[in-house]
Amino acid sequence: MGPREGDRLWQRHVGNSLALVDALPQGVDVADVGSGAGLPGIPVTIARPDLRVTLIEPLLRRANFLTEAGEELGLADRVTVLRARAEETSEQFDVVICRAVAPLEKLLRWTLPLLRERGQLVALKGESAEDEIRKASKVLTKAGRTAEVLELSVAPGVESTRAIRVA
Ligand SMILES: C[S@@+](CC[C@H](N)C(=O)[O-])C[C@H]1O[C@@H](n2cnc3c(N)ncnc32)[C@H](O)[C@@H]1O
Repeated sequence: MGPREGDRLWQRHVGNSLALVDALPQGVDVADVGSGAGLPGIPVTIARPDLRVTLIEPLLRRANFLTEAGEELGLADRVTVLRARAEETSEQFDVVICRAVAPLEKLLRWTLPLLRERGQLVALKGESAEDEIRKASKVLTKAGRTAEVLELSVAPGVESTRAIRVA
């Protein structure tokens, strides 16, 4: 790891995940779909002690890592790890979050069934946000959902980012 790699990891991954912190309602049940190494779910859980977070990840090695990380970080009382694909999951949540998992059209098919009534999907996205909303317009209309682009900032010196909120 080079001398600046730690800074880059912090900004690109942890800082980027923390951009969601102010976009989530209080005291809700959240699912992080396709959590991988715990992004954005673990930073969000640490920063928001009011949330209960389920990390959904189909790969065994990653799911085992997430369980260990949750225990080591003292988050086990608020974090659940579900080793599953989103589309095989029958639980429901107030909010689904995700990062770098799939284009919006596919995400909607996977995650709309996971949302409780009045639930929302908040997906971290970059420059492609508007384009993805356009491509998903038929699925959105059919589901009676609307999508907006959120401009999110984290802290001075940390790159701002964007998300799509489907409500
Ligand atoms: C590119 S990684 C992103 C991981 C993490 N969200 C991040 O930002 O670093 C995509 C993750 O989505 C998971 N994944 C792929 N298909 C999925 C599905 N149908 N349901 C849930 N997770 C899925 C993969 O196993 C992988 O861990």
